[in-house]
Amino acid sequence: MPLFHQQTKHSYISIRKNANFLDWRSQPSNTKTYPHFYQRFEIEDYDELKDLSLIGGITFEKNYPDGAYHLRSVPSAGGLFPCEVYIQIRSVKGLLDGIYHYEPKSASLTLLQEIERDGVEESFKQQQKQKGFIFLISSVYFRSSWKYNNRAIRYVLLDAGHQLGAIYAALSVMGRESEFVFDFDKLALNEMFGFRADEFFTCGVISGEKTEQSVKRLRQNLPFVSGCDYLETNEFIEIAYKESAEYKEESFTPDPFFINIPKEQLRQAIVKRRSIRAFRSLELEKEELFTIVDGVFSFAKQHGIEIFYTTHFVKNLTEGLYKNTELLQEGDFKEKSRYLALEQNLGGTSGMTFYFTSNEVEKYQKVNILSGFLAQIIYLRSELLGIGCSGIGAYYDDECKEFLQTKNNILYMLAIGR
Ligand SMILES: Cc1cc2nc3c(=O)[nH]c(=O)nc-3n(C[C@H](O)[C@H](O)[C@H](O)COP(=O)(O)O)c2cc1C
Repeated sequence: MPLFHQQTKHSYISIRKNANFLDWRSQPSNTKTYPHFYQRFEIEDYDELKDLSLIGGITFEKNYPDGAYHLRSVPSAGGLFPCEVYIQIRSVKGLLDGIYHYEPKSASLTLLQEIERDGVEESFKQQQKQKGFIFLISSVYFRSSWKYNNRAIRYVLLDAGHQLGAIYAALSVMGRESEFVFDFDKLALNEMFGFRADEFFTCGVISGEKTEQSVKRLRQNLPFVSGCDYLETNEFIEIAYKESAEYKEESFTPDPFFINIPKEQLRQAIVKRRSIRAFRSLELEKEELFTIVDGVFSFAKQHGIEIFYTTHFVKNLTEGLYKNTELLQEGDFKEKSRYLALEQNLGGTSGMTFYFTSNEVEKYQKVNILSGFLAQIIYLRSELLGIGCSGIGAYYDDECKEFLQTKNNILYMLAIGR
């Protein structure tokens, strides 16, 4: 596992030594807005874009004297939303071929540049012209490092995975397929999109039809526009990103995780999804658990991720520690999982708590992103069954490893229950 993973571990002592007091008034803005002279297209005005807002739209709004507080269809560590989404659209009825930026608050797409024989495909391995949509997910890391300092490198990747899952789920509602791309020339694209080191691409989704034609480099670089209203750079994160950005990986079509779910039901689940803030220690049915994890362990394994979990409140299932479907140790691990989750009650009062782990070194970004992706699948499948779910990005790393008796590093915890 890369050194920067080791350097961003939490331990009982580190948490107490590095108490981080935040002045919430200094929170950087969490939306990127291109200047007013760019043309904007409201998503709801275009049939072909129906349901596109499910990728990250505002689904909760509360007004406070200091301003409005928004939550989105996608969860985010600390509610800080470091992700931005750019969409290349080609040959879609009623829309100009071009590179667009998605704005959650105005539910619109901003046209950044028209395309013709050029396009982002040039940075992909196959360089074939693609009709339809290409989504590119970037991270504006300061939104997260403002609170989490160096550990934000993990959260921006997990958040990118949730964003990937949200795009995948939205495309499922739209009746469109997804192909995931991790291995593209991210550094070149960062430059073409006018990013400085504070914003970077992590992954993408292609949804459309491949053609035999090749594509040229974007004819013009986009201008720099800041992703925050102010910025404190973090060299550790910038180096960690660069060191882990390049790796070999074929693009692939993810498993059909929502295959039997009626589209309207999935749409409702996406809109209603929230992170549960407290469990009532009520039981889950064993069958519910099986429905939620169906296909998840095999997908994880195929991509270098091993999932452990402790069961706490699941009817007719032996309470204990499991790896995939195998019971490793029988016992009551409620207090242990609560403690390991940085003493957050969510960890131990859940029906069950997952631990996503991996020993993958080369594809560090990918295993983190795919852990977030699977977590998003679990969020939505839980919501479909009326079960609560919450990501847990804060945990004692080494103590988790010791408990799970694994050499793998711990990437993420996730709790579901009632
Ligand atoms: C990567 C990640 C890590 C998270 N870690 C925690 C955590 O440690 N504790 C917690 O209570 N919530 C955690 N959450 C939940 C967020 O606080 C929540 O997503 C955010 O406040 C937005 O609310 P919503 O999910 O209801 O839209 C995490 C979410 C994500 C995506």
